[in-house]
Amino acid sequence: MNFLELLNKPELIVAHRGANSLSPENTLNALKKSIGRADFIEIDTQLSKDGIAIIMHDDTLLRTTNVSQLSEFDSKKPYRVCDFTFEELKRLDYGSWFYTDNSKAEPLLTLHDALIFIKENNLFLNLEIKDISYAFSDNEVVEKIVKEINDIQCSDRVLVSSFRHEYLKIIKTKLHIPTAALAEDSHPKELLSYLRGLGVDGYCLNDELVDKKSVEMLREAGFFVGVYTVNSTLRSHVLFEMGVNFIFSDSLYKDKQ
Ligand code: G3P
Repeated sequence: MNFLELLNKPELIVAHRGANSLSPENTLNALKKSIGRADFIEIDTQLSKDGIAIIMHDDTLLRTTNVSQLSEFDSKKPYRVCDFTFEELKRLDYGSWFYTDNSKAEPLLTLHDALIFIKENNLFLNLEIKDISYAFSDNEVVEKIVKEINDIQCSDRVLVSSFRHEYLKIIKTKLHIPTAALAEDSHPKELLSYLRGLGVDGYCLNDELVDKKSVEMLREAGFFVGVYTVNSTLRSHVLFEMGVNFIFSDSLYKDKQ
């Protein structure tokens, strides 16, 4: 089964940032906890200062690492990811912020290791490329990500999405891989022709933007539709009834197989 075949199945659940209510988001443990609990996994990638693709959601390290407790990094405030080298990022703890007793450290997860894990466990991955256009050129970002996917030979298991739609346009010139444009506050003008221009296969939107007519229009035009972030079972039923293909969730996991 390839990714587009998977997307034909009904009522898909995506583990948002890995199973992030069971383990610290975007860590290897969050990937492990997703197995059997979701149809596929979503994680976020961006580049370190020296261009290594790592797994991290926020632009800064403040919320999900212990960086603010390490005085050696005081000069790097506000702790933007793009200001830290890979060696520096490896010295941080990505787990303790999550556990109430502060007891469990988690190491940095690289895109390389995440892709190996996905391949070895026959999983499917939605890789969201964070918008890091303030620090790197679009081509530079896409080239790094494409190289990682090619190195691991897992393009049949990966769907790439981004709020920075330029990345998606470039990816399609380099890889045969499904892509999805992300939308947060508003739809792009002339939505269908805009999406066709990007060459994307799907559209993932904020739940607050969803309406039945738009979902029907997108599905009829051949695009798959994903909605984030949905943590109510009732709401998930309404969305699936509208024709939404998948929802990103922090908690609506399937029973563990
Ligand atoms: O990729 C869908 C969803 O995860 C987008 O929202 O804020 O988690 O990147 P965010």
